[in-house]
Amino acid sequence: MPDLTIANVFVRLSDGNYPLVRERLSSAFPDLMLSSEPSKGDEAFKVYVGYYPPQDEDIASYDWIHIPAAGVDRIVAELEGKASTPVITRTIGRMGEQIGEYCLAYALAHYQKMALRREFEAERNWWKKKAAPDHLFDKTVGILGTGYIGQGIGRAFRALGSAVIGYSRSGRPADPFDSVHKLSDFPGPTTPDILISALPWTAETEGLIDADLLSQLKDAVFINIGRGATLDENALKAALDAGQVSHAILDVFPKEPLAQEHWFWTDDRVTVTPHVSGLTRDVDAADRIVDLLTSSLKTGSLPETEVDLSLGY
Ligand code: GLV
Repeated sequence: MPDLTIANVFVRLSDGNYPLVRERLSSAFPDLMLSSEPSKGDEAFKVYVGYYPPQDEDIASYDWIHIPAAGVDRIVAELEGKASTPVITRTIGRMGEQIGEYCLAYALAHYQKMALRREFEAERNWWKKKAAPDHLFDKTVGILGTGYIGQGIGRAFRALGSAVIGYSRSGRPADPFDSVHKLSDFPGPTTPDILISALPWTAETEGLIDADLLSQLKDAVFINIGRGATLDENALKAALDAGQVSHAILDVFPKEPLAQEHWFWTDDRVTVTPHVSGLTRDVDAADRIVDLLTSSLKTGSLPETEVDLSLGY
């Protein structure tokens, strides 16, 4: 393999959705071969930047794929069964903090009874007892997934004094969790009052949030900001009916947009949001690819991969 240099690297930007990425790459590297068309095939290093795989060429022919998003499932699925294993990098940016804010906002809205108080106000009701809040410093938050995003969520709740426990495949300790347990040992010593899933979609996590798991909860708030396919929707319905979950806040769905006729839309116990808890900011996507390419040109080699294809995340 030759050294990676500006003369032998080709970058395909998947579509027109990343204007700032294009602009920053062209200004940082005026001599870069940058295109939205398929590669010609004779470049020494081929880099693909995109969330979705291209329709018009084989993604496995690329040496490096940069995903300007946190979730890598689309690209990983496309590479399944292929012999080639490109380096994969991604943009996390400020997503831990963004999603932390989202989860905190909905947890606060729930325990501060914001919707209910508006209803009381409309009726000019001074119902102090019914309007009284619960507090996050009295709550335990359980987070499925202890990577960057789970950690960002954990920090947001820690700031308000919640106990924060994590669940991961390995159960390995991580900051800022008070303790981390194996997913297979859920719920462990303390049952969370708020359960947040930050799980990626992999063969192992599909349908993982099932009746067994949800039935361990009691009057809990459930938030899904990971991927929709990790949740068994019928099990959620049963958990809502049984009072194991009192409110579900769902930002991700197996099929997006969520179908018009889906029961989630009309069930008062479910809040639906259109996949907005963590949106990759153009500036983060642009900074990250420019930084990665700058260091690759310095070392003359591809960056370290950030995705274990055998695990799918
Ligand atoms: C959003 O869901 C992302 O993967 O960045």
